[in-house]
Amino acid sequence: MTARGSDDEVMQEELKAGGAIPQHIAIIMDGNGRWAKQRALPRVAGHREGVNSVRDIVEACGQVGVGCLTLYAFSTENWKRPQQEVSTLMRLLVKALRDETDKLYKNNVRLTAIGEIDSLPRDVQRELSDSFERTKKNTGLNLNLALSYSGRWEITSAAKKIAGDVAKGKIEIDNITESLLSSYMSTADIPDPDLMIRTSGEFRISNFLLYQLAYTEIYISKVYWPDFRRKHLYEAIRDYQKRERRFGLVSEQVKHLQTL
Ligand code: IPE
Ligand code: IPE
Ligand code: MG
Repeated sequence: MTARGSDDEVMQEELKAGGAIPQHIAIIMDGNGRWAKQRALPRVAGHREGVNSVRDIVEACGQVGVGCLTLYAFSTENWKRPQQEVSTLMRLLVKALRDETDKLYKNNVRLTAIGEIDSLPRDVQRELSDSFERTKKNTGLNLNLALSYSGRWEITSAAKKIAGDVAKGKIEIDNITESLLSSYMSTADIPDPDLMIRTSGEFRISNFLLYQLAYTEIYISKVYWPDFRRKHLYEAIRDYQKRERRFGLVSEQVKHLQTL
C-alpha cells in the first residue's frame, strides 16, 4: 500500500468516528473558468481538470460511506453560454462517461441523472443510457448527475404532471401534500441532501435543488472546483459534523430527541 493510501485510510476512519457521515451530498462544482484564467489557459482546461476532481470526490464518497452524491454538472441556464463552450462541455461529458464507466462499475457505483435529459445531444443521451444500464445493479454510492437541470424547471414540470393527473382524475386536489409533491420531483427516490457544498467562494444556489435544499446544511469552499480534492471534502464533512440541525425546533428538543 502507498503511504498516501494509508494516510487517507486513517483520515477516513477518523471521519467516520467523528460523527454522522452525510447520506446525501450535493455539490455545485463551480470555478472551472476562473481556475483556467488564473493560469492563462482556455476555460476548457478548467473543465478538463474538473473531471479529475470528480473522479477523486466520487471515489472518496464511496469509501467513507456517503449514500448519494448529486453533482451539478450543467444547468438549464448554462445553455446560454457561448455555443463553443457548450459543445466542448458535452464532448467532455461523453468522453468522461466512456472513460470512467468501467471504474464506476468496479467501485460498485450506480449512475443516475436528473434534469431535462431529452434536451441533451443524442450521443450524450446514448452514453448516459449505456452507463445507467451497466451500473444499475450496483449497490454502493449513487452518483447522480444534474444535467440540463434547474430547480425551477423541476418544480414547473412537477406542477404540470400533477395538474395532468388531477385532470385525469388520478389524484384529488386534497391529496396534494408535500410528500406527494416530492414524489413528482426527479429526486423522488433520493433523500433530501444533508450537505450542499459550493466551490469557488460564491454564496448562491444558482437554481440547484430549490425544493430539496429546505433544511440542508450549506458549506462554501473558496477552492476552485479543479483544485477541490478529497481533503477538502473531508473538511466539509468535519464542519458538517459540528453543526446542530434543528429543523425549526429548539436545541433542548433536538438533544432530547437524540436520547430517544
Ligand atoms: C463550473 O465552472 C462548470 C459549469 C458551470 C459547467 P464555471 O465554468 O462556471 O467556472 P467560472 O464560474 O466561470 O469560474
Ligand atoms: C452553477 O454554476 C451551475 C453548475 C455548476 C453546473 P454557474 O457558474 O452556472 O452559476 P452562476 O452563473 O455563477 O450563478
Ligand atoms: Mg461558474
